[in-house]
Amino acid sequence: MPVSVASEKLGIWMVGACGNVAATAAAGLVALQKGIAPLTGLVSELPPFAGIELANWQGMVVGGHDIRKPCLLQTADRLASERVIPAELLTACREELVAIEANIRPGVAYRCGQQIRQLADVQVADEAAVAPRQLVSQIQDDLLSFRKQHGLDRIVVVNLASTEPTLPADSAEAAQLTPTTWPELEPHLDTVGSAQFVASSLYAIAAFELEMPFVNFTPSVGASSEALENLSQRKNICHAGRDGKTGETLLKTVLAPMFAHRNLEVMSWVGHNIFGNLDGRVLDHPDNRATKVATKDKVLGSTLGYDPQTLVSIEYIKSLGDWKTAWDHVHFSGFLGTSMTLQFTWQGSDSALAAPLVLDLARLTDRAAGAGEIGTLAPLACFFKSPQGSSQHDFFEQHRALLEWVSELS
Ligand SMILES: NC(=O)c1ccc[n+]([C@@H]2O[C@H](COP(=O)([O-])OP(=O)(O)OC[C@H]3O[C@@H](n4cnc5c(N)ncnc54)[C@H](O)[C@@H]3O)[C@@H](O)[C@H]2O)c1
Repeated sequence: MPVSVASEKLGIWMVGACGNVAATAAAGLVALQKGIAPLTGLVSELPPFAGIELANWQGMVVGGHDIRKPCLLQTADRLASERVIPAELLTACREELVAIEANIRPGVAYRCGQQIRQLADVQVADEAAVAPRQLVSQIQDDLLSFRKQHGLDRIVVVNLASTEPTLPADSAEAAQLTPTTWPELEPHLDTVGSAQFVASSLYAIAAFELEMPFVNFTPSVGASSEALENLSQRKNICHAGRDGKTGETLLKTVLAPMFAHRNLEVMSWVGHNIFGNLDGRVLDHPDNRATKVATKDKVLGSTLGYDPQTLVSIEYIKSLGDWKTAWDHVHFSGFLGTSMTLQFTWQGSDSALAAPLVLDLARLTDRAAGAGEIGTLAPLACFFKSPQGSSQHDFFEQHRALLEWVSELS
């Protein structure tokens, strides 16, 4: 008799395992396993998903990579002091989180910029003296040991690491020199210091070569290049990305369709974001911030059908910790050219918003892999600011596509 997916063991391998989002997702998963957390915030627990067999919370095991010494508990304690994770819930989950911390291995910090590299307090290879292939093998050894040690049936790799500066290869001129197929790109893995890769793409390559699905919750390049798409297709494995849509951008993609459907013209949209967690500290560097702003800033044009003037700012204000405040000012015109303004203030805990989506994405990507889906998972667009495989940014259209996909799966 076939074993049900729900009763099998699924590993969730978090890259950036000691960060805020990873620690909140890990604590949340343990709390779900103990039945002490409500299902609020989990999309995959909504009624339409009941018809598809998703991995059971009970069968999930967390491990991961980080370039800091394992400090998941320390991160969780800090989040409890900031009222992101309830203190009593953390106390109840502490023993299991100690066990998860033991599954964290030193990650790789290849060409991910000084702002990230200076966070490292584990031994990371000198990027000018190492062939990327060596780092891919290191990642794969850790994934295989994790699978063996815990008797896992499957693993999903989720990138939750700090945002990398934009690859020079992302620029138009460099793109012309960038290999577009895996056979063209693969030999560069053996070139010491090759400029074709960054850490996030090495994690994706490691996962694909082992036929494990990959989720890129960050704006970093990850698996978004044509050559990596080609690799995923050759390996018959799926992936999803890029940059989780959790707060201000979620609101933008909900509100922009309203302006479009009422034939109101958005003249400008200004969004100021202030927050003080480690992500904010990394994004305080102009190179890292540019990667994030690019994914936050391109959601309006496709929904409105024209490009209003936009400004997105992200500022690191230490005292705010994980609590992000976004203030948006939308200047629009209506009948007879009358100008009006919408302003909103969003105050959310970044990690409490992101963590359930990470768990949803792990489950849905695992389910897609089980159904034999290959390459980019476009139906998961509603989870991302810069959805791969889809130019649709209207949240309602994205949600409809998700439900259609779920109904096909069931
Ligand atoms: N919180 C949200 O709402 C949200 C939404 C969308 C995207 N994101 C993205 O998710 C990521 C995680 O956010 P966070 O708030 O947890 O950040 P964080 O700074 O708290 O955690 C990032 C972790 O990644 C580790 N790291 C950095 N480079 C690494 C590498 N090469 N290999 C392994 N580990 C590495 C860091 O040491 C740190 O522990 C960021 O890129 C952020 O932009 C977050």
